[in-house]
Amino acid sequence: MDKMVVEGGVPLAGTVTVSGAKNAALPIVAAALLAEGDHVVRNVPDLADVRTMGRLLTHMACEVGRGQDRRTVTVRVPRTVKPEAPYDLVRTMRASVVVLGPLVARWGQARVSLPGGCAIGARPIDQHLKGLAALGAELTLQHGYVEARAPRGRLQGATFVFDGQTVTGTENVMMAAALAEGRTLLGNCAREPEVVDLAEALNGMGARVQGAGTAEIRIEGVERLRPLSHAVIPDRIEAGTLLVAGALPGNDVTVKGCELSHLEALLEKLQQAGASIAPVAGGLRVVGGGRPRPADVKTAPFPGFPTDMQAQMMVLLALADGSSVVTETVFENRYMHVLELRRLGADISVDGKVAVVKGVPTLSGAPVMASDLRASAALVLAGLAAQGTTEVRRVYHLDRGYERLEEKLVPLGARIRRVAA
Ligand code: EPU
Repeated sequence: MDKMVVEGGVPLAGTVTVSGAKNAALPIVAAALLAEGDHVVRNVPDLADVRTMGRLLTHMACEVGRGQDRRTVTVRVPRTVKPEAPYDLVRTMRASVVVLGPLVARWGQARVSLPGGCAIGARPIDQHLKGLAALGAELTLQHGYVEARAPRGRLQGATFVFDGQTVTGTENVMMAAALAEGRTLLGNCAREPEVVDLAEALNGMGARVQGAGTAEIRIEGVERLRPLSHAVIPDRIEAGTLLVAGALPGNDVTVKGCELSHLEALLEKLQQAGASIAPVAGGLRVVGGGRPRPADVKTAPFPGFPTDMQAQMMVLLALADGSSVVTETVFENRYMHVLELRRLGADISVDGKVAVVKGVPTLSGAPVMASDLRASAALVLAGLAAQGTTEVRRVYHLDRGYERLEEKLVPLGARIRRVAA
């Protein structure tokens, strides 16, 4: 198991470019299951979760490849697939569940393992199942699997309102509705940019999806779709993580390739914390200056402050000249990084959804353990800011969602290296 060794307290300066968005690439690659033939998805990050999605499609008898540029994924979907997502793959990546909608819509049946527990919260998939049932899917749960069937081989358009906003739930039901017979109206949809990107990818396949990015999505079902040809949006969470790196005291980082309109809630908080941010050609320059100012942060679905940036933002606030209140409203258990940040000298207390962060002037390096993807990114940021050496263990969490983060940080002057443990 690799670990990351960070010698902190070194100022960062320079330019870094963002990769394609993991959370857009995963459902878009899964959308290949909606049509037989040769699919091409560009700007796909080369990271562990994308490889897991590739293994999943290979298990279903698709041929999955990577172009020489490492940015392009090709999927050949044969005349018949094995419509099954086994436990061994789903347990390593919950997002595997996004194959359920495409499988039942295109192939009339699916057998998908139920994802188990997760470090950040219970994360049920009841809304995915309710939405698919509204489209007429017959669902049974047995032996840890969801079995879904479309009676007479095709789903039926319907009106369905999600009880709560869910990103992959919206994506699953939207993909299924693309091939359903008739019109579907989905209410209380997630409005994340990744939902919009998927809708654009589907429309490129010949689907008729309107309203993605708003709470109401309207889908006119079509009989068949053609293969994908789509370029994935930039990763706003990777961009955000690098922007926080730039906002740390003494740093000056330009993040290229990011989409400003996807980052507004974060930029507002970084500015409140004292960072100066300026748009530059093709990106954003963030200058950290002196000690950050405190800022209260409450996570919320898009366009609110992203839960996927809560841990990284907390590192900046941990160094602020004053106290900040962080409220996590999306997941019930997303403060696993707090105990590790405390090992670096941060003064943070948690009571339920609320964390109080009392800024300290410096952090000091120590060995820490990553618990999940975004927590591990936060620990790397904390290591960069801390005096001395920080070792971040269980780096496989980081590799699920960041494309060799250390290779993006070293050119900025960071002293970070990966060590095989
Ligand atoms: N929820 C339900 N029922 C459902 C679905 C969700 O109660 O059927 C609840 C969840 O338990 C959670 C809330 O709704 O409390 C929101 O969850 P959502 O379904 O939106 O999350 P997700 O689709 O499973 C995606 C991202 C996550 C990101 C969340 C929130 C992908 C592949 N994953 O997860 O990304 O945190 O949306 O923005 O898109 C990450 O990249 O580190 C990551 C965890």
